[in-house]
Amino acid sequence: MTTLYHPSSGHDGDLRELHAALQQRLDVLLPAGDANDRVSAAMREGVLAPGKRIRPLLLILAARDLGCDRNHPGLLDMACAVEMIHASSLILDDIPCMDNAAMRRGRPTIHRQFGEDVAILAAVALLSHAFGVVAAAEGLAPEARAQAVAELSTAVGTQGLVLGQYKDLREGSSARSPEAIATTNELKTSVLFSATLQLAALAAGAATPVRDKMRCIARDLGQAFQLLDDLADGHAGTGKDINKDAGKSTLVAMLGADAVRQRLDTHLCSAEAHFSRACGKNQATRRFMRAWFTQQLAAFS
Ligand code: IPE
Ligand code: IPE
Ligand code: MG
Ligand code: MG
Ligand code: MG
Repeated sequence: MTTLYHPSSGHDGDLRELHAALQQRLDVLLPAGDANDRVSAAMREGVLAPGKRIRPLLLILAARDLGCDRNHPGLLDMACAVEMIHASSLILDDIPCMDNAAMRRGRPTIHRQFGEDVAILAAVALLSHAFGVVAAAEGLAPEARAQAVAELSTAVGTQGLVLGQYKDLREGSSARSPEAIATTNELKTSVLFSATLQLAALAAGAATPVRDKMRCIARDLGQAFQLLDDLADGHAGTGKDINKDAGKSTLVAMLGADAVRQRLDTHLCSAEAHFSRACGKNQATRRFMRAWFTQQLAAFS
């Protein structure tokens, strides 16, 4: 079990409530199926295992900061859909022909629990289910709903997570320039943050200039998040294998941890500046992100 920051163990009651609401809704959206239905069981395990839920929390907080009604009937489902896509990417990332990971979220990886065949099917089914959930989300105008689906499609596809994973697998073991690593990190991680914040903006009915700022925020947040993940690789308590990045060309390997922390902070400050401009006096998301990163970074010093 991860010993790192977990919103459900934090002091912020609102965050704890949101975290619990996400868990409950994911539980409902992912029914168990009958006793022989190993794919549904693997989908549930992949998603319901204790992740940090950073993307869905971000989606809900950002939507609220942008003026979305707290009772928007589709917001929680949109957030759950993003978490399903993320969990799908983790299941695939862990399988033997990719990162060949043994542990995830403090538990044996999905292919170790259910077999590789079931893991792949569960990942595909989670993607498909996520699109269905967004397509059925209430409280969105038809155009906004179509745009939400399109944002997720772009994030997953050959210009998004798929390309990022491909580049990481093919290029990660060779020397890369810092720019090449940043490009891969953008595809691996920023693109799903971008879709997350676009869904927040669509739920809030935000105007194009605000949506553009959200894209800038996502670029920085994704970079900061992947740098944090790379910094955490050598540490116990993440719920994942330790030193999985050994022999990989990451910015931590190339520049060292101190330089990466500085780089991370630059991205975070840039994201904060955009948040301030996009959300005016509503700064819950910006405050949450800063507190979250501060707490995470403290775990690795
Ligand atoms: C891990 O994501 C994969 C990356 C993009 C770095 P998270 O660190 O959000 O994983 P969970 O959801 O908490 O397990
Ligand atoms: C994976 O990056 C990013 C994904 C989109 C799956 P990593 O391979 O570094 O993620 P972890 O460390 O296994 O969570
Ligand atoms: Mg990987
Ligand atoms: Mg991995
Ligand atoms: Mg990693």
